[in-house]
Amino acid sequence: MTARRRFHELVGAAPDGLWRAPGRVNLIGEHTDYNFGLALPFAIDRTTVVAARRRPDNMVRAVSCTLERQATASLDDIAGKDPSYFEPWARFPFGVIWAMTRTGAAVPGLDIVIASDVPVGGGLSSSAALSISVAIAVNDIAAAGLTKTEIARISHQAESEVAGLPSGLMDQLAVLEGRAGAAVLIDFLSLQTEQVPVGRGPHVVINTRVEHTNAAGAYADRRNACEEAARELGVRSLRQATLEQVEHKLHGELLRRARHVVTENARVLETAARLRSDQPIGDLLIASHGSLRNDYEVSCPELDLAVDVALASGADGARLTGAGFGGCAISVGAHAEDLVAPMSEAFEYEGFMQPEVFAVIPTEGAGRLA
Ligand code: GLA
Repeated sequence: MTARRRFHELVGAAPDGLWRAPGRVNLIGEHTDYNFGLALPFAIDRTTVVAARRRPDNMVRAVSCTLERQATASLDDIAGKDPSYFEPWARFPFGVIWAMTRTGAAVPGLDIVIASDVPVGGGLSSSAALSISVAIAVNDIAAAGLTKTEIARISHQAESEVAGLPSGLMDQLAVLEGRAGAAVLIDFLSLQTEQVPVGRGPHVVINTRVEHTNAAGAYADRRNACEEAARELGVRSLRQATLEQVEHKLHGELLRRARHVVTENARVLETAARLRSDQPIGDLLIASHGSLRNDYEVSCPELDLAVDVALASGADGARLTGAGFGGCAISVGAHAEDLVAPMSEAFEYEGFMQPEVFAVIPTEGAGRLA
């Protein structure tokens, strides 16, 4: 059911507005954001829509059409309680309001109805789509006047608090800054963004449906290793390190982790340059996956298989996308129809869960619909 229709049913009145925020897929630039590096994600044609309206009291009622759940809390409870007090899905909308009130915004009571077709837990940033769609709705209704960067930070704060993941800002900025037909080149040192046309499709996502039980812990370990590597090199972050320094001064695990980050930043710049002149990028995606598998060690057998099968079935390039440890791969240059059967067969042969294979289209970032 659409958010607007459900809103009418529930509240018996029209919402003050409708807002949307897409999911995202990362073309290249993985585990670079928290190292003040570079990434090139794009917003996808899977979207979360929020219908919301100001209430006369100080209650917030949030409804998920997708989960068919409803959660209600007072603004005082949202501001004062630990997010884990609320049921898991409601921590995101309540977390956004919590983070927003901490900036001093006067958030009113609200009815919020949410509908989404972004796959949950699949590495396509369903949580950023949820938190950003709520944040832009509340920003408008409360006339808080927050900038995109502030909205990204608020949503990031809410999501990190809720998920316990010390993530970077990639997901939020991709969701906010997406453009139809373009990827967003993000520089996490300056927070500058630039749209880069992604002419050569098709772009296909392969969702392995694998969820790593300790992904948050493994993610935090990688981040800590990068910070330690930067300290050993005497630089503020790995963004300032060169490959030469990394290879001369670091050893073992720190060498591998830092080498991934430094080479990945270079691949992002090369990918953007090639896209601007309509050159193929497949080899860069393949190199990125190899680096994530061997140096950063965030791949898994299902993701490696998805990449191998995509390449064997005509893709120019493929790689894991998002944090890794499961979730999704992205492939470029092959049609979804040509990947479905070989993926299904190969996954069945290996005794893995059946993957979900679907095309994604670079889409406009978050905004108000009505
Ligand atoms: C997750 C995080 C992002 C980013 C990626 C890895 O998606 O939310 O901030 O670190 O992993 O590139």
